[in-house]
Amino acid sequence: MSSSPFDLDDTADSGGMRKGLTSYGDQGFSLFLRKAFIKGAGFTDSALDRPVVGIADTGSAYNPCHGNAPQLIEAVKRGVMLAGGLPMAFPTISIHESFAAPTSMYLRNLMSMDTEEMIRAQPMDAVVLIGGCDKTVPAQLMGAASAGLPAIQLITGSMLTGSHRGERVGACTDCRRYWARFRAEEIDAVETAEVNNELVASVGTCSVMGTASTMACLAEAMGMTVPGGASPPAVTADRIRIAEQTGAQAVQIARDRLTIDKVLTPAAFENAMRVLLAIGGSTNGIVHLAAIAGRVGLDIDLATLDRMGRETPVLLDLKPSGQHYMEDFHAAGGMATLLRELKPLLRLDALTVTGRTLGEEIERAGPGFRQDVVRSVAKPIYPQGGIAVLRGNLAPGGAIIKQSAADAALMEHEGRAVVFENLEDLARRIDSDELDVTQDDILVLKNIGPKGAPGMPEAGYMPIPRKLARAGVKDIVRISDGRMSGTAFGTIVLHVTPESAVGGPLAYVRSGDRIRLSVANRELSLLVTDEELARRAGESPITPPTAERGYRKLFLDAVTQADQGADFDFLRATRKTGTQP
Ligand code: FES
Ligand code: MG
Repeated sequence: MSSSPFDLDDTADSGGMRKGLTSYGDQGFSLFLRKAFIKGAGFTDSALDRPVVGIADTGSAYNPCHGNAPQLIEAVKRGVMLAGGLPMAFPTISIHESFAAPTSMYLRNLMSMDTEEMIRAQPMDAVVLIGGCDKTVPAQLMGAASAGLPAIQLITGSMLTGSHRGERVGACTDCRRYWARFRAEEIDAVETAEVNNELVASVGTCSVMGTASTMACLAEAMGMTVPGGASPPAVTADRIRIAEQTGAQAVQIARDRLTIDKVLTPAAFENAMRVLLAIGGSTNGIVHLAAIAGRVGLDIDLATLDRMGRETPVLLDLKPSGQHYMEDFHAAGGMATLLRELKPLLRLDALTVTGRTLGEEIERAGPGFRQDVVRSVAKPIYPQGGIAVLRGNLAPGGAIIKQSAADAALMEHEGRAVVFENLEDLARRIDSDELDVTQDDILVLKNIGPKGAPGMPEAGYMPIPRKLARAGVKDIVRISDGRMSGTAFGTIVLHVTPESAVGGPLAYVRSGDRIRLSVANRELSLLVTDEELARRAGESPITPPTAERGYRKLFLDAVTQADQGADFDFLRATRKTGTQP
């Protein structure tokens, strides 16, 4: 049993609790002062003499995905107090996809640093991380992993689906669809305004298998949430009950000193990779997993991911690759149903925040029932995992393709490159009738990698050139060093590493070069000789972007490539040898 961070009698260093102590030599006085100040808020000695659970509050008027944070905090506090602990909520940065310029990814590492340092700075024995919108859960897991205390993730939960003229709609796959219909003049401004009221029908995260839902599922798969923590929608009683349970469990992990490194093990990352593949999850999930793993000294090996992909079928029938929404997944039993089906492929020995293993939790969840959201391994949505890893002279550090969302006819393709130097160049020329492009060509976009844009924007989903779109072309091979939204689809090669802005081979591709994509052979080749590439590099050498001051300078100086999670180099832990998942 841990003693309280407010206990004056205990001057011995008791683990994480003392880390928050500002003591300039006289530790007794510092504790005395701390206690005096907290008493200013009306606490009694009895309240202070118990395990302290910090609650990272990411509620913000700019973040409707976290709009239920006040109710969640109230329920977490109830759980903490019922279990005999003292809850202490504190604010951190909050990031919403639509209110985070230049990109939310640019701010993820900043949020992780805020989270880490606030956990370190303030006295607490365990921390509850309340996150949901795309970048928040990875940022919190990264920060908490570095801080090293017992930690537990609480997901805000998905939004409800809405209804537009009899059709069920949800963000943000349907946002794209309706906007495309408006641009094509299929629907008018009145109807567009009408559907705008229904696409986000409540607070909570996007209701399809985008990055938020993906990270919620991965957090549960890694054992970082209480069982069933991934799927309850934001506004349901189930979600509030999960919050209460999370508070109670936080007290338990504080008492047991179940630190985060005991949960985020190679087995946990292996399970996360399996689940990512089986849910047809967002490609962003790989970048985030690599960043979280880096914080505990592990690497996400892309070759391992690819091998797992060949033996892990896509089982979850959710938009954008399937038809259902997160609330349907919850009604179908949520992660318990998926994990039960996936059991033969999982590391059942992985420890979770309950103190039990994932295998034990699957047993405790009991038998399944008839439902149509999670398929059986015998009848999958897609026979292989959603994501394949490509290599070749165009991507020596790897690239990925979401094959379950790609056009089967384009997965073995050789074509002529049509190159765009950056986003401005793309915007200027993509819809021009002068653009020299056919449907057999390959669109190449440079300078949207971690340093390029910067912040690796979700611009890898390049639009089909207007003259081809008009001719009815629905898909074309696209290659970039950027990311794409988990809600998008097409034959799109992403995360080309190293990126063009640091002089990766992508920087030297020219319009007219030939490129070969073979998903079967996991190949991405530029059919240009090494000598010619070296000549081009000598002719126009690349100067990586820099900035004069502020966070932008820090970002450009320190951001790593996609295969290392686009984390800052100085935030990664020293690599553990022989433990990669
Ligand atoms: Fe927050 Fe989609 S915008 S989860
Ligand atoms: Mg997204």
